[in-house]
Amino acid sequence: MGKNIIYLTSCHSTNDIATHKVRSGLAENGEIIIADEQTAGRGLQGNRWISRKGANLMFSLILKPENLRVADQFRLSQCIALGVAGFVASVAGPGVSVKWPNDVLIGKQKVAGILIENTIRGQMIAFSVVGIGLNVNETAFDNPRTTSLSAVTGRAFDLEEQMGSLLCFLEESLAILPAGDWQVLDDRYLNQLFGLNETREFIADGQVFSGVPSGITPEGRLIIFTGSGTRIFDIKEVSWVL
Ligand code: BTN
Repeated sequence: MGKNIIYLTSCHSTNDIATHKVRSGLAENGEIIIADEQTAGRGLQGNRWISRKGANLMFSLILKPENLRVADQFRLSQCIALGVAGFVASVAGPGVSVKWPNDVLIGKQKVAGILIENTIRGQMIAFSVVGIGLNVNETAFDNPRTTSLSAVTGRAFDLEEQMGSLLCFLEESLAILPAGDWQVLDDRYLNQLFGLNETREFIADGQVFSGVPSGITPEGRLIIFTGSGTRIFDIKEVSWVL
């Protein structure tokens, strides 16, 4: 992983460039596209990812998973979230969690986002583009629900050094995939899950409701206990009220 790194001072979106490489048949497993700046960085559900030039990490990792079924695609997402969370905890200390599906938080504030875009062939994942945005040296935030490694630790970081360390964490967590040990993965993921077994508020169908997140289905849907029974949601159907 990371033997071939394409470094760009500016681009629209590293995920778009990586996806273009995949479609052109030029992509290699483990290749990374990293940029100082994105002019059209993308987040989940059509959101934008805005990050100050040169302050933070923005990159896309191209993976060619061996024998990963479409039905198991959430497993990759879990590995990536755990790798990023492990890295953040190694720098920022306790209080790091994964907010379903794969935001990484320090306390209640988001420090990293993950956007995974898969290319599917038949029942299998042929390629995965794993886009990661991690706030490292950011100090000014428009949104009070976001933070950075620097804001939390009071230190300034060398981006290249942190990138090397993050890749080691990702390599370690991705090693769970070929073994297919989903129980280990679920245990580790639930152990890091923000709000697990706590009463939280959510919005679904325009209605706010209280519920207790109690687990994840194998497909990555969130299981919430509510006063009127158990409800199961995918990412498009529910959002957190923090
Ligand atoms: C989210 O939290 O909504 C996901 C954010 C993902 C942002 C990263 S930055 C690098 C890569 N390129 C993109 O356009 N998006 C991802």
